[in-house]
Amino acid sequence: MLKDFLSIHHLSVYEFNEILDLAQKMKAKPDKFKSSLRGKILAMIFQKPSLRTRVTFEVGMLQLGGEAIYLAPADIQLGSRETPFDVAKNLERWVDGIMARTFAHSIVVDLAEAARIPVVNALTDLLHPCQAMADFLTLREKKGDLSQLKLAYVGDGNNVCHSLMLAGAKAGTKLAVATPQGYEPQPEIVNQAREDGQSTGFALSLTNDPIEAVREADAIYTDVWASMGQEQEKEKRAQIFASFQVNTTLMAQAKPEAIFMHCLPAHRGEEVTSEVIDSPQSVVFDQAENRLHVQKAILWLLMGQEKSV
Ligand code: CP
Ligand code: NVA
Repeated sequence: MLKDFLSIHHLSVYEFNEILDLAQKMKAKPDKFKSSLRGKILAMIFQKPSLRTRVTFEVGMLQLGGEAIYLAPADIQLGSRETPFDVAKNLERWVDGIMARTFAHSIVVDLAEAARIPVVNALTDLLHPCQAMADFLTLREKKGDLSQLKLAYVGDGNNVCHSLMLAGAKAGTKLAVATPQGYEPQPEIVNQAREDGQSTGFALSLTNDPIEAVREADAIYTDVWASMGQEQEKEKRAQIFASFQVNTTLMAQAKPEAIFMHCLPAHRGEEVTSEVIDSPQSVVFDQAENRLHVQKAILWLLMGQEKSV
């Protein structure tokens, strides 16, 4: 396993599956793992708000016998009060791992380069890898063999979309991404995903037509139209994205047994209707639960074994 967990792109197919398999075991038999991080401490750095990430990392550490320290945006003021390098060189003297949610992706990269201890990416403007791992665990639980599935992502080509593409590439899933023109995923991540997916049977299509994307899909996924840090674009985006709403009409174009997915928080009446998110097809709270299980697996793989580096 790598020193850090920054992007799914860095994982081998073996490591990707190892995380999912260990998460499944930890979910089935949590008691077996309850002392596996005894005495270990995780520092959790947040530049942005959070419900799921904060609670699942903290609960995860407690369930593994360790502890977590929450550092709010105002505590550290990363980049203005202190550089990521200096923050990392301090934290490595006191704790065993760092989890960071930041604006610029370069901050988690700088933290990881500077720190001797593992760094976990808990969302940046570019990527949300823990979310995508939880999502693929959920997909596997609900629909089985990931290499036989088609996932449709409808909405903004953002951090969540990027990590889903990189996860799809490792899993060999078919992935159709529908965004408005000008809101496509970044070409660099599209290229990484296509490269990673060459050996797995991954197929990625990009379109501006949501109906085309969801045809024959086993799962439809969406996320907010304006991410954290883009609040000032909210109204403009609401107009541009209006025809990308996941509603019952769009759900009806996918397979009849298709599930609905969302990383949450959701803006009901915008990217998804209440009818869809509250329907029996919706698995959004299973995704939220699985954040806990996959992150416990990641934390154990990074911090639970003696490292030679
Ligand atoms: N999905 C997710 O990361 O939620 P939070 O922003 O609440 O952590
Ligand atoms: N794309 C969203 C995901 C929130 C979990 C954001 O970055 O705000």
